Amino acid sequence: MFEPAAWEERYSGPEQILSGKPNTQLVAEASKLTPGTALDVGCGEGGDVIWLATHDWRVTGADFSAQGLRRAARHAVEVGVADRIEWWQVDARTFSADGRRYDLVTTHFLHPPDGGMVDVVARLAGAVGPGGHLLVVGHAPSEVFTQLSDSHRRAMFTAAQLLPGLPAEFDPLVVEQRPRSIIRDGIRVDIHDSTLLARRTR
Ligand SMILES: C[S@@+](CC[C@H](N)C(=O)[O-])C[C@H]1O[C@@H](n2cnc3c(N)ncnc32)[C@H](O)[C@@H]1O
Repeated sequence: MFEPAAWEERYSGPEQILSGKPNTQLVAEASKLTPGTALDVGCGEGGDVIWLATHDWRVTGADFSAQGLRRAARHAVEVGVADRIEWWQVDARTFSADGRRYDLVTTHFLHPPDGGMVDVVARLAGAVGPGGHLLVVGHAPSEVFTQLSDSHRRAMFTAAQLLPGLPAEFDPLVVEQRPRSIIRDGIRVDIHDSTLLARRTR
């Protein structure tokens, strides 16, 4: 699941892969901000992008999967917010902002292998404008994920492990693991979202 081909295959079938709902930490944090421009990297089927667009943000949804972006764009048309959204096919591991600046840059459940998320944080920080926010959320390491391969478990992170990727001009506002419950195979499972929220001061 670390390379585009695996995600293209997942998204090529008829069924919806993700919930389509916005992520809990996105809603919690973005609801406190004044809407502006936002970039969501690893946007998948677009649940967060569409939530932001329906809450007055102008959004760019980015993902390395062309099929994922097509699904997300279709969903945005159905919801009637396509005119507030742009789509960008990009790999977070080689991402460069190239002069683009956003008020909010966010990514949820992007888990590159081999500790790669620290470098991704540094890359995404380059797209945050002065006064803007960076929100990074992922799965905290947990015994709950024992069914996954070692490489997948190693790709999980705590929020504090991401701090070396944060440039000096950022103030960390939230660095924590937030509890959340999910239902898996009809059973309630308690997990934690590693949550890093930082504000660019200059
Ligand atoms: C687990 S899904 C999460 C989707 C969405 N953020 C959510 O929370 O519902 C991970 C998404 O990230 C994308 N992705 C994984 N690695 C990526 C990378 N290196 N660059 C860009 N997108 C990536 C996948 O194609 C997939 O759509």
